[in-house]
Amino acid sequence: MKTNHKHYICNAAKMAAVTDGSVNLVVTSPPYPMIDMWDEIFSHQDRKIEKALRKSDGSLAFELMHQVLDRIWEEVFRVLSPGGFACINIGDATRTLGDNFALYPNHARILNATQALGFTALPCILWRKQTNAPNKFMGSGMLPAGAYVTLEHEYILILRKGGKREFTSPATKENRRQSALFWEERNQWFSDIWMDLKGTRQAMGKQKKRNRSGAFPFELAYRLINMYSVKGDLVLDPFLGTGTTTLAAMAAGRNSTGYEIDPSLLENFCDKCRDSLGHFSSVIQHRIDLHNEFVQGRLAAGKPIKYENAHYGFPVVTRQEKELVLNIPVSAEQQGDENMVVHYSIPSRETANTATAAQNAPVVPEICGAKSKTDGLLFPDFDPAS
Ligand SMILES: C[S@@+](CC[C@H](N)C(=O)[O-])C[C@H]1O[C@@H](n2cnc3c(N)ncnc32)[C@H](O)[C@@H]1O
Repeated sequence: MKTNHKHYICNAAKMAAVTDGSVNLVVTSPPYPMIDMWDEIFSHQDRKIEKALRKSDGSLAFELMHQVLDRIWEEVFRVLSPGGFACINIGDATRTLGDNFALYPNHARILNATQALGFTALPCILWRKQTNAPNKFMGSGMLPAGAYVTLEHEYILILRKGGKREFTSPATKENRRQSALFWEERNQWFSDIWMDLKGTRQAMGKQKKRNRSGAFPFELAYRLINMYSVKGDLVLDPFLGTGTTTLAAMAAGRNSTGYEIDPSLLENFCDKCRDSLGHFSSVIQHRIDLHNEFVQGRLAAGKPIKYENAHYGFPVVTRQEKELVLNIPVSAEQQGDENMVVHYSIPSRETANTATAAQNAPVVPEICGAKSKTDGLLFPDFDPAS
């Protein structure tokens, strides 16, 4: 198996290289309107925004910033195939302009705009990003009634273009079965609140224009790609930033394409891809080890496991996991400035089988979700933005 990965340094308001209906999944996080680190990038795209901010007209600035994003949501709708998903990570903003402190509900504005375009909104995920910062409480402290609750969550909006995706031919059905998740991963990932993902460090080199990248965690993109696409699909990120979505698509065996307006973020990106391959192989092996730990815990709790995975021979809870196969990226070649081709292998039955891995793993009492010594995270230490 091999996958292709392209990126373009330009404004995603016109994604000329992406044809209508060619994308299966969009995983993205736009610049957040009304968060000051993004003021400049929005103002460059519409000068009226700068004026509105200078006049402390928060409602107008908010609306104009969203009009910049609306053009990209329109393009996203055009390029998605019928049944394709868009997963949009967005946080609301709080800001004081003049004397007025207010919430700017970015997630609601994006939901309205995307539904008006024809997207169907599906149940979304609340990403709880707890902070222990001492200054997290805002307002009048212990004195009523002038304090504001803290904003410690973001949204992952889940949208679909049209109805359910069809898998009709024998080959597409087989590929779908091979792209299955483990039962215990489904229980953890398809929950509406994600408490386990920490934000990334987001630090940028001194030479960069911004001092934070706005990157989301690698695991966030990796999960969404596994949840809403199958192997060989095309995943798009119109706000590619440091390239997290591309890296996650490589790890998951999907093709990818991305747009980024700031050229400084993707300098030496191909080297970064190549440098990440070794890490991907060890964490995909870790995904198998986590499954083996789960199996051992479930068996120890006296719960039988009925099925066996045809490729690896380890037990699986449901019939749907019988043909699951994980592909490990082993090499990457650069083709031109903006194109990478990644080649994969499949872990052998011997390395993946329970006999050795599960015997060496500690017994884990949790039997419902993918929990382990790393809290069920597949990539606890991987921060590609750094
Ligand atoms: C929140 S960041 C995305 C971070 C990314 N998810 C990552 O993990 O690195 C948003 C990105 O969108 C880029 N951007 C803003 N407006 C854009 C536009 N019109 N077209 C393409 N990229 C844009 C910004 O430069 C920024 O890097």
